[in-house]
Amino acid sequence: MELNELLGIGDFMLVELSYAEQNVIGKTLDYLSKVKEKDVLETIRIYAESKELIGIAIHDTDLGFWVIFTDIIADKWQRENFVALASAIKGAKERKVTVTTEKFREGLMEFYSLGLVNRLFCDCDLNLKEECFYPRDRVESLKKVVSRFLSDKDGIKNTLEIGCGDGGATIALHESGIFPITIDVNKCEICKGVEAGVLEPTKSVVLDCSVLPSYFDREFDAVFGFMVGKLTPSELFTWDKVLREVPKVLKPNGQVLFTVSSEEETVILNEILKDDFEAEIIENKDSNGYFDLWLYMGTLRD
Ligand SMILES: C[S@@+](CC[C@H](N)C(=O)[O-])C[C@H]1O[C@@H](n2cnc3c(N)ncnc32)[C@H](O)[C@@H]1O
Repeated sequence: MELNELLGIGDFMLVELSYAEQNVIGKTLDYLSKVKEKDVLETIRIYAESKELIGIAIHDTDLGFWVIFTDIIADKWQRENFVALASAIKGAKERKVTVTTEKFREGLMEFYSLGLVNRLFCDCDLNLKEECFYPRDRVESLKKVVSRFLSDKDGIKNTLEIGCGDGGATIALHESGIFPITIDVNKCEICKGVEAGVLEPTKSVVLDCSVLPSYFDREFDAVFGFMVGKLTPSELFTWDKVLREVPKVLKPNGQVLFTVSSEEETVILNEILKDDFEAEIIENKDSNGYFDLWLYMGTLRD
């Protein structure tokens, strides 16, 4: 559901240019500090189930549309500033709306991922036919891997996929009944995947996974990473940081499934993650070729 439907308003904008920037909310705080009463036709204060103020929508007199501000994924420090500034804003008309944080966060993700597709936040010149390639045999092979991973597990509901690319492996998760939040640092990959109808707009985010805990709590039952970057010594610097953040967003007893293309990479994976996970490393004999040749399946240690 788009944010405006959730709030019962018309056309709207957010001032931050990306989901990532919603953590810092620099433009938000600056804008709110400059709002005058005459600029505001109407305000909506947005509350979470917990009764906490998580946002404010302002119907701007001059702009003629709504501007939505939120601190839902901001740092604690910025939240205090946000609440102080938002509380001081008055409008000729005021009302309150209570939303679930889950739906509100999905609305934010959707705004930014649809903004990529309609080229508000991405200027890629995409030719879907030429640039998106989702080999069916890989999907079928991965579905077997996912089925094996899930076979002895119950209650895998909240899930995350890191480095999802354009969603080539996400298809296998969806077809296995798993609908993760999908993250990639490359906005054109998310843009392609959403435009191709493979990645879900309400669950797709452009983000560097090496800062995952700034955006997510310990909220996931499982984290997936397919063909997690090439774990060569030269690429290791990036992936080391990403992989070490994964345990910090998993619930107790959380699970991970990673695929890599060589046995050497599993050794590197295991070296990075051995203190956090009890793991099984398996050769994926069903994989036909370079993709997903080795599997790392781990359970978070107590
Ligand atoms: C080898 S591709 C795999 C794509 C997809 N998972 C698949 O299996 O088809 C690795 C992906 O990781 C992404 N990536 C690299 N560093 C990242 C980071 N720090 N945070 C999030 N994604 C990252 C890249 O942009 C790329 O799309």
